[in-house]
Amino acid sequence: MKQTIFSGIQATGIPQLGNFLGAIKHWERLSADYNCFYCVVDLHSITVRQDPAKLRQASREMLAWLIALGLDPAKCTLYLQSQVPAHAELSWILNCFTYMGELSRMTQFKSKSAKHEENINVGLFSYPVLQTADIVLFQANLVPIGDDQRQHLELARDVAGRFNAVYGDVFAIPDAYVPPVGARIMSLQAPDKKMSKSDENVNNCVFLSDSPDVVIKKFKRAVTDSLGVVKASPGQPGVTNLLTIYSSVTGKTIAACEAEFEGMGYGHFKTAVGEAVVSMFRPYQEKHAQLMADVPYLDKIIAEGAAKAAAAAAPTLAKVKEAVGFVV
Ligand code: TYM
Repeated sequence: MKQTIFSGIQATGIPQLGNFLGAIKHWERLSADYNCFYCVVDLHSITVRQDPAKLRQASREMLAWLIALGLDPAKCTLYLQSQVPAHAELSWILNCFTYMGELSRMTQFKSKSAKHEENINVGLFSYPVLQTADIVLFQANLVPIGDDQRQHLELARDVAGRFNAVYGDVFAIPDAYVPPVGARIMSLQAPDKKMSKSDENVNNCVFLSDSPDVVIKKFKRAVTDSLGVVKASPGQPGVTNLLTIYSSVTGKTIAACEAEFEGMGYGHFKTAVGEAVVSMFRPYQEKHAQLMADVPYLDKIIAEGAAKAAAAAAPTLAKVKEAVGFVV
C-alpha cells in the first residue's frame, strides 16, 4: 500500500516561482511513489475579499497550472476544495478541538490581519483548522510544503494528536516534507521577505505566466549588494536567493553554482538566472495555454477530481462522526 500525500495551494493569483520551487515541483516528483491529493483551496481564499467572477476563473486557471506543471490527473487527484463538502464539515468539528491561544500564535494570522485590518474575520483566524481538516481527511502521511507552512503543519499534528488521544487512532499524524533547497524563495527587490503572489510590487515576484522579457527584466533588476562575489552567505541575501533559484532550477548544488560564476559580475549572473527560469517556464506556459483553450477537458478533470476526493474522504468523515457521537 502506498502512503498518502496531501497538499494545497490558494486559488487566487497566478502561481509564482516560490510556489513552484518550494512545493509544486516536489508534488510532481513525489507523485510516482505516493497516493496524492492536490487541492486548489478556494475555501481558504475567501478569508480575504474576492471578486466572485475572478475567483471562479482563478480556481480553474490554478487547476490548469497544476496540470501544466506536471501533475497528471490520471496519477493523482486534483480538485477544488469547495466541491468536496467534507472539508468544511470536518473543519467545524476540529474547531472544537483547537484552542484560541494556539491560533493566536500563528504568524500567518498575525501578518494577514495586519495587512487586512478592515476585515479580520473568524475564517482568517480558524484558517489553520481548515488546513488541518484538509490534511487529516485523507489520512495523509506526508505534506510537501514550503517553509512558511511549517507552523500550520505543526498545528495540524497537535490537533490530530489531541483528537486521537480522546477517540483512539482516528487520524494518521502527518509529517512535513520541506525541500532542502528552494523552501523559501525570497522577494527579488526585498530579499528579507518571502516571494508572494499577493505582493503589491510585481517586481518582487516572478509569475509562471511572465513572458521571457518580463522574467529577464525582473532578474536584471533584482537587488544584490556591493560585495561583487557570487556566494551564498547571510550577509548577501539577494545573491543567496538568486543562487538558490539557479540551483533549484538547474539541479546543480549551490557550491557548483558558485564555482560556475566565480569571478563574473552580477550583471552576467543575474541574466543567467533569468535565462534558466525562462527555459524552465516555456513548456509549462505552452501546456497551460493548451489547457485553457480546452474548457470541456478541464471541466471533466475538475468533476472527476471532486468525485475521487469525495469518495476518498468519506470513510474518515464517517469515522469522525461516529467517534464524536453523531447519529450515523
Ligand atoms: P500557498 O497558496 O500560499 O502556497 C502554496 C505552496 O507554495 C509554498 N510557497 C513557497 N515556497 C517557497 N518559497 C516561497 N516564497 C513560497 N511561497 C509559497 C507554500 O509553502 C505552499 O506549500 N495554507 C496554504 C494552502 C493549504 C495547504 C493545505 C497546504 C491549504 N490547505 C493543506 C498544505 C496542506 C497556502 O496558503 O499555501
